[in-house]
Amino acid sequence: MYSVGYDAATTDFFHHRRAASHAAFFLPHVRPGMTLLDCGCGPGTITFDFAALVAPAEVVGVDIEPSQLRFAQTQAADRENSNIHFSVADLYALPFSDNVFDAVFLHGVLEHMQTPVAALGEVCRVLKHGGIVGARHADFGGFLLEPAEPPLDRFVPLFERLMVHNGGDPMAGRHQLRWLREAGFDQLVVSASYDCWTSTPEETRRNACFLAELVGTSAFASQLIEAGLADSAALARMSEGFIAWGEHSHAFAAEAWGEAVAWKT
Ligand SMILES: C[S@@+](CC[C@H](N)C(=O)[O-])C[C@H]1O[C@@H](n2cnc3c(N)ncnc32)[C@H](O)[C@@H]1O
Repeated sequence: MYSVGYDAATTDFFHHRRAASHAAFFLPHVRPGMTLLDCGCGPGTITFDFAALVAPAEVVGVDIEPSQLRFAQTQAADRENSNIHFSVADLYALPFSDNVFDAVFLHGVLEHMQTPVAALGEVCRVLKHGGIVGARHADFGGFLLEPAEPPLDRFVPLFERLMVHNGGDPMAGRHQLRWLREAGFDQLVVSASYDCWTSTPEETRRNACFLAELVGTSAFASQLIEAGLADSAALARMSEGFIAWGEHSHAFAAEAWGEAVAWKT
């Protein structure tokens, strides 16, 4: 099961992602004329940036969730992008022939999958020989939150426990190198980076509202309750705590990511 769900606040959180900020490690390898597949593209904001970079070649964004792609498709129609396509697809069974893409990108998706190596096997299959994959996955072992007085001190442990409960891996950032090697990639370059969620007071408040909704009313909160990991009263207190945190003069939050670029030989 997908731990964070598809509520409006969660989807909005992903809307703020861009290739320049979230795929910087991969951009030096992306050139005009490369066909590119974005796996688990969500609302597709990073995918759109790739479409501009590889034009006139085609970019395809796939996601297992139709509601995410409806947003992406509407954006594509509004912008009259002719080299971008979105389709519903499962990363375990990509609907493409062997050896068709010059590049494949994965951002924040493998941590939600029970068998990431099988998914990377599919990625390898659809990549051309000499093709390149870029992967960036979160690692909650490095999540920074300050101040994190009770009940906010429970946020990261709860997030990790729900991901594990759902068969995912909250430490994907540090494990993806092993997964890539197990999937057959042997030429790799790795790096790491942080996303700061509190760069301006406006961003801090926006993300505080997102976190308050995530733990208070979203599918994430319902899953925590159903799994017996938290009760609604505790989550309501955490939700209120995040709203107060968003007004704090030294509120700081940052998410750690593992990054890897690999080539199919
Ligand atoms: C955290 S979101 C990341 C979205 C986007 N890559 C970004 O970073 O903005 C993870 C996405 O992976 C998708 N996903 C999860 N499991 C999948 C699967 N088996 N096949 C395809 N997409 C999947 C989810 O539906 C979700 O939209």
